[in-house]
Amino acid sequence: MRGVLDQVHAAVEPMIGAGRVADYIPALSTVDPKRFGMAVATVDGETFGVGDYRQPFSVQSLAKVFAFALTLAVDGDRVWGRLGREASTQPFNSLVQLEQDLGIPRNPFLNAGALVTTDRLLTLTGDAAGALRTFLSTESGNTSVDTDLEVASSELAHVHRNAALAHLVASYGNLDNAVADVLDHYVRQCAIAMSCEDLAAAALFLARGGTGADGAALLDREATKRLNATMLVCGMYGGAGEFAYRVGLPAKSGVGGGIIAVVPNRCVVCVWSPGLDACGNSVAGVAALEAFTSITGWSVF
Ligand code: DON
Repeated sequence: MRGVLDQVHAAVEPMIGAGRVADYIPALSTVDPKRFGMAVATVDGETFGVGDYRQPFSVQSLAKVFAFALTLAVDGDRVWGRLGREASTQPFNSLVQLEQDLGIPRNPFLNAGALVTTDRLLTLTGDAAGALRTFLSTESGNTSVDTDLEVASSELAHVHRNAALAHLVASYGNLDNAVADVLDHYVRQCAIAMSCEDLAAAALFLARGGTGADGAALLDREATKRLNATMLVCGMYGGAGEFAYRVGLPAKSGVGGGIIAVVPNRCVVCVWSPGLDACGNSVAGVAALEAFTSITGWSVF
């Protein structure tokens, strides 16, 4: 596996730095676009990495997978009363999409969908951001996983679009908690900083049929299948079709430049490089996952 990762790194070298670093959250704009890291955590408990795989970065929308898993674990199929599971045709922060969908966010990985998830997690736990932090620490085995407060306050100072989405969701009666509280917890989830190594370990339950780090079921097999399927269809936003074609794995991206991809029953791969394409997906990250699945033959297809 070390050799595979070295091959992938060499293959994507010319693409590292391509794309645009997210700047609508000012604290993210200062990240060096030349960073690249990739880690593989296997279901047998091994971890491999290359490049900056131990460097923490802002998880951003990667948080949406874990938060959604926490609500799915409690609510089961009832989650679908407040959310859809169809691919989106508009950007991840689109108000138009939400209005067309009458306040039922089209999927859990759009910002509006994640606001609904955060709202539910807040009702269930009283501390959605804290519950997510605890979950990520436990599953990664890294007790120092935490929110980067500078990133959180930078996003909160520019939260207008998410505030508009949250208010629009609330206007359709699909939010139980106060908009300000939901936004605060949502932003603190997105601003959690973690490395590729820790994220791959934390997401390993998705490759293990729902079994967590301590061997207990976080999700049952059926729910895990459905979460992976939802990632395949919706996790890369407008780039989901192209990503399925090139990579062929369930995955989720974040504007920090991270992508988590699941190879069921084998491993989880996490890759990080901050330059983004027009859909908000890491350019070098997608290329690295394409090289990884081409070299290994590991895909769901
Ligand atoms: O709410 C936002 O816009 C960011 N905190 C997260 C967006 C994101 O990561 C979308 N993924 N590519």
